[in-house]
Amino acid sequence: MSKEALLKLEDKELSFPIIEGTENEKAIDLRTLRAQTGYITFDEGFGNTGSCQSEITFINGEKGILRYRGYPIEQIAEKSTFIDSAHLIIYGELPTEEQRTRFLVDLIKTCNIDTRMVRQFEAFPPSAHPMSILTSMMGSLSSYYPELSTNDRVLDLENFDRSAASAISKVMTVAAMSHRIANGLPINYPKKDLTYAENFLHLMFSSPNDEYVAPKEVSEALDLILLLHADHEQNCSTSTVRMVGSSGANLFASITAGVCALWGPLHGGANMGVIKMLEAIHAEGDDGSRFIEEAKSGNSGKRLMGFGHRVYKNFDPRAKIIGQACERLLDALGTKDPCLDIARNLEQAALNDEYFIKRNLYPNVDFYSGIMMRAIGIPLDMFTVMFAIGRMPGWVANWHEVASQPKGKINRPRQVFQGPNERDLPADYNQR
Ligand code: ACO
Repeated sequence: MSKEALLKLEDKELSFPIIEGTENEKAIDLRTLRAQTGYITFDEGFGNTGSCQSEITFINGEKGILRYRGYPIEQIAEKSTFIDSAHLIIYGELPTEEQRTRFLVDLIKTCNIDTRMVRQFEAFPPSAHPMSILTSMMGSLSSYYPELSTNDRVLDLENFDRSAASAISKVMTVAAMSHRIANGLPINYPKKDLTYAENFLHLMFSSPNDEYVAPKEVSEALDLILLLHADHEQNCSTSTVRMVGSSGANLFASITAGVCALWGPLHGGANMGVIKMLEAIHAEGDDGSRFIEEAKSGNSGKRLMGFGHRVYKNFDPRAKIIGQACERLLDALGTKDPCLDIARNLEQAALNDEYFIKRNLYPNVDFYSGIMMRAIGIPLDMFTVMFAIGRMPGWVANWHEVASQPKGKINRPRQVFQGPNERDLPADYNQR
């Protein structure tokens, strides 16, 4: 017997089908609600709204589970790489040897950017934030590579392998170039014998007369950070990519919207927020205990950055992995970071504090990623850019899922209007 949900509304009793996911998640299919009743659902912030059916990433926030295409994040983090997980997320399977080689060739073939685009960097004022530069430059890809961004669904899907590789490789090149140019440094180009993480570090830190060779622990730590950010189901930026993609917009346009959504401090901007918070606590001579009290008070306007998550009401599994990796990296580099001590105090205090326990507020992935990036030498204003590089496979895969639906609908939510009722313009309006 198929399951259904019964709704009693005014004098009518209506039945709606239940959709079940492969992990037994249940949803009431309300697609016909408005047509049948004139009512819509109201779910500000979409905490209860399934906006799509997806096969990419599974999260169980209560149990602290994250899986890419079925594989637990713990196993992927231990055994895989950012590029293999990008392949997994985008194409559904870990690559065979042959697929890996093809993917790497595509990435290296597409990693450079048009030289006219390079000149575009010079037009930004020195004060430009790297995220602002990244949004503009990713948006420009459609101008320089129109064959990959036609807005003709059939063509854009035919060219998907190349546009997907371009998105993943060019975001790295653009990000590093924005840092080099903003700091008056000569730009570098990716090399074919380096891994993705090694290439990024080379682009950032090499100079013509002094090539940067990343220590293994540094490139591995960066690879892990990127891998842990590679996808996270229907978060704000990924939902934005899907929303834009649902209008028929090409991959580059859709991922640019994702970059913009990521910029906010409650999403990708939180990793910067964590370091700023830790530095401020340190500068005030606090060990974290005063700050915890302020974050709890509700009217200080302060939040414990890197804590809490819309979906995880348990430990963010990525935070567990990255917390240990952070300790390993700092040990290997011999870095003594007072911010790490404060972070440990905050973590312990919050985990034992009634306020945080009652609200299920646990450390999220950003809590430690900032400390690691700082130890690697990545400037603070590049942190959210790093998140964008990491999240690219997820955005690409979600765009593809939307674009491949033969009967895909444009995303178009409704609203409950609370504004003024109809009224006439004042009679003397033109005389004023
Ligand atoms: N510090 C202190 N209190 C918090 C925090 C925090 N970090 N997060 C939530 N709360 C409190 C809220 O004040 C609220 O308390 P109340 O019930 O007394 O009003 C309660 O917990 C619920 O908070 P909401 O904002 O309703 O939770 P929501 O699910 O909407 O927000 C979010 C989740 C945005 C991540 C929030 O926890 C937050 O702002 N955290 C800090 C920023 C951060 O780390 N963001 C990264 C997110 S993960 C990522 O993008 C990788």
